[in-house]
This record gives sequence, C-alpha cells and structure tokens, in this order.
Amino acid sequence: MHKSFDLYFVSSNSHKYKEAKNILDSFGIKLGFLKLTLEEIQSNSLKEIAENKAKDAFSKCKKPIIIEDDGLFIDSLNGFPGPYSSYVFRTIGNNGILKLLSSKRNAKFVSLITYCDKKNLKTFDAKLDGTISKSQKGKGWGYDPIFIPKNSRKTFAEINHKNELSHRFKALKKFSNWYLHKLESNDR
Ligand code: IMP
Repeated sequence: MHKSFDLYFVSSNSHKYKEAKNILDSFGIKLGFLKLTLEEIQSNSLKEIAENKAKDAFSKCKKPIIIEDDGLFIDSLNGFPGPYSSYVFRTIGNNGILKLLSSKRNAKFVSLITYCDKKNLKTFDAKLDGTISKSQKGKGWGYDPIFIPKNSRKTFAEINHKNELSHRFKALKKFSNWYLHKLESNDR
C-alpha cells in the first residue's frame, strides 16, 4: 500500500524531488512525490508560471502540494534563458549556452516554490549568485555541470553539499518557516 503524506511535491523531474525531499527532511517535513507533467504557460514572469502550475497540480491531486519553478539568468545575455530555461536546456543544452558566452560569466539561479491547498496559494522565492564555467565539469543533471555557485571554484555537479546552499535550499527554507508556523497555528 502507498504511504500517505501531508504534503506532496508535484513535478515530472525526479531530481528536483530528491533534492527537495532531502532538504525538507532536514526541517522535519516529510514530502511525498506525485510524478506528473503540469500545464506550463508561457510568460516572462516565473511567479505567474509557478502559480498557474500549482493551481493545476492542486486541481489534479486535491491534496496540499508544492511545485517548483526555476530559471537560470545570465547577466551578459540580459537574463536569458530565465523563464525559458527548460526549453533552452532541451534545445541548445549546456554546450549551446557555453558557446554564447565570452569573458563575462556572472549568472544566478532562481527558485520559486509555490504551495497550494484549498485556502492558500503562496510563493517563496530565492536566488543564488554564481558564474558559468568555461566547460562542463562533473556529472550532474540540468545546468549543474556549468553553474559555479558564489564562493566556490567547483560546479554544482562537482560539490557534494549542493543541498545546503542551492537556490532550492534557500526557497524551501523560507517555505518551511511559513509552513511549520501554519501547522502550529492550526494545532492551537
Ligand atoms: P523548470 O522549468 O523549473 O523545470 O527548470 C528550468 C530548467 O532549469 C530545467 O532545464 C531544469 O533542469 C534546470 N534546473 C532547475 N534547477 C536546477 C538545478 O538545481 N540544477 C541544474 N539544473 C536545474
């Protein structure tokens, strides 16, 4: 029989779930997984994309859920690929990004976590500054082999403490502060 959880992560990306589960475990929150492909609108606003995805997830699951939407913003490309990060990864990939860059390599990863239940729709965001490496380094998913977080010389794919500093960690930390407080007030 399937174990039931109070909170589910809805995504088609199991890498994101594994990291989110690991991070929320450390805050004492148990996270289930519903592997689903959600409706993704085209918009320049990550918040609009995330909130739309969360409403779609809740309407499909009818349980408290969180979804995540991310973007990689590269300064010298005026924030590209930003909200189009997923499409750009699928089309030109990491090598395509590397070919577009010259000496200016500053970038940031942004994560939005949106929670949705019957009463609440709430978004928590965080960013992590860094740079884009000159070549792919390490084995990791998505943009991990080319993103070097600030104060590090290694890419996300090469470090083993990504979950203690990532954009995902920072947004989930904000979410868990709010969520644990909400549970406590419901108990009172
Ligand atoms: P999504 O649209 O939220 O799925 O994410 C946008 C793109 O960023 C996708 O191609 C993801 O694979 C990628 N991405 C998001 N978070 C990470 C990460 O922590 N490491 C590497 N790539 C990521």
